[in-house]
Amino acid sequence: MTVLGIESSCDETAVAVVRGGDEVLASVVYSQIPLHQPYGGVVPEVASRAHVEKIRAVAEEALARAFPGEPDPWARIDALAATRGPGLAAALLVGWTFAKGLALALGKPLIPINHMHAHLWSVRLGHPELRGADLWPQLGLAVSGGHTCFVASEGPDCHRLLGQTIDDAAGEAFDKAAKRLGLGYPGGPAVDKAARQAPAGADRAIRFPEGRVSADHPLPPGWRPELCVSFSGLKTALLAYVQKHPPQGEADVATLCASYQAAIVDALAKRADRALAAAPYRSLALGGGVSLNRCLREALARVAARRGVRLLLAEPCHCGDNAAMIAGLASVLPLPQDPLAALALDVDPSLPV
Ligand code: KG4
Ligand code: ZN
Repeated sequence: MTVLGIESSCDETAVAVVRGGDEVLASVVYSQIPLHQPYGGVVPEVASRAHVEKIRAVAEEALARAFPGEPDPWARIDALAATRGPGLAAALLVGWTFAKGLALALGKPLIPINHMHAHLWSVRLGHPELRGADLWPQLGLAVSGGHTCFVASEGPDCHRLLGQTIDDAAGEAFDKAAKRLGLGYPGGPAVDKAARQAPAGADRAIRFPEGRVSADHPLPPGWRPELCVSFSGLKTALLAYVQKHPPQGEADVATLCASYQAAIVDALAKRADRALAAAPYRSLALGGGVSLNRCLREALARVAARRGVRLLLAEPCHCGDNAAMIAGLASVLPLPQDPLAALALDVDPSLPV
């Protein structure tokens, strides 16, 4: 199936065309980062307006790139897909409503997609060699500005949440640290870059809390405390440290970043290791914006090697929010019996895994 997918859950307006799950014919992402930079974070109203302004042009560009010179490129699309949640309500509404309009106008089926399931699918984009490979069950780790979750998957649309952050997401922890240290927004790439300037061993120079969630912490059914994490104490610890030892220059900032990043990466790697030890997985998939972090990629490669599972990493262009992951996942799902049943659905900002 060839699917046109739409993503607008946060601050990227994205449209892509994907065939057969992994063949990306076009993927256009309009990033709103410069619009939100002055505020140091995503402003939902600004995001929503920018989606409205850009979505049509982004869709037309994706279609033109996927089928250059084609007189009627819409005829080449078998179905439409869009993110229904989780995400910012006002932002989701733009893409979802645009997709509904297209489905109605074109008379093509509309497939609702869970953004987190799509991040977990993103590791397959551009990798047709994975099609026949025996990679299920898969342990997934989706790490972004809004989410940090461990997911056991039996297939593209068969997921069970094992644990997640009980407060801040990993990306949020990076963003808040960067704000404190004056490194700008988004914080993850800035902290990652600063940490690379630190000398060897700097990642162990300052001890930050590992974010353990106690066994008696009340959690929803099915979540395992040892696979949950709490990152909110980390930013408080950073603040306390910086107040006591104000950084005296770039070298101090680099050491702080290396140690802070190591705390996040260690917390995630330790939990991935625990999950892999507890059940017979065949692969470990890492998706989401934070999966761009070099230190996290290296740490999970070590964990996967130790546990004898195949590590699946998303291509850098598919780590952050994009629509190829939405279209890609939709293109391997069964078509809904009633092709327009999704028209009755609303967005769900807290759609669960
Ligand atoms: O998946 P994504 O693009 O959007 C959400 O769904 O949130 O993730 C964005 C997050 C931001 O918090 C950003 O700081 C973080 O991903 N990020 C990184 C890196 N690149 C982006 N975090 C750590 N290291 C990086 N290299
Ligand atoms: Zn995302």
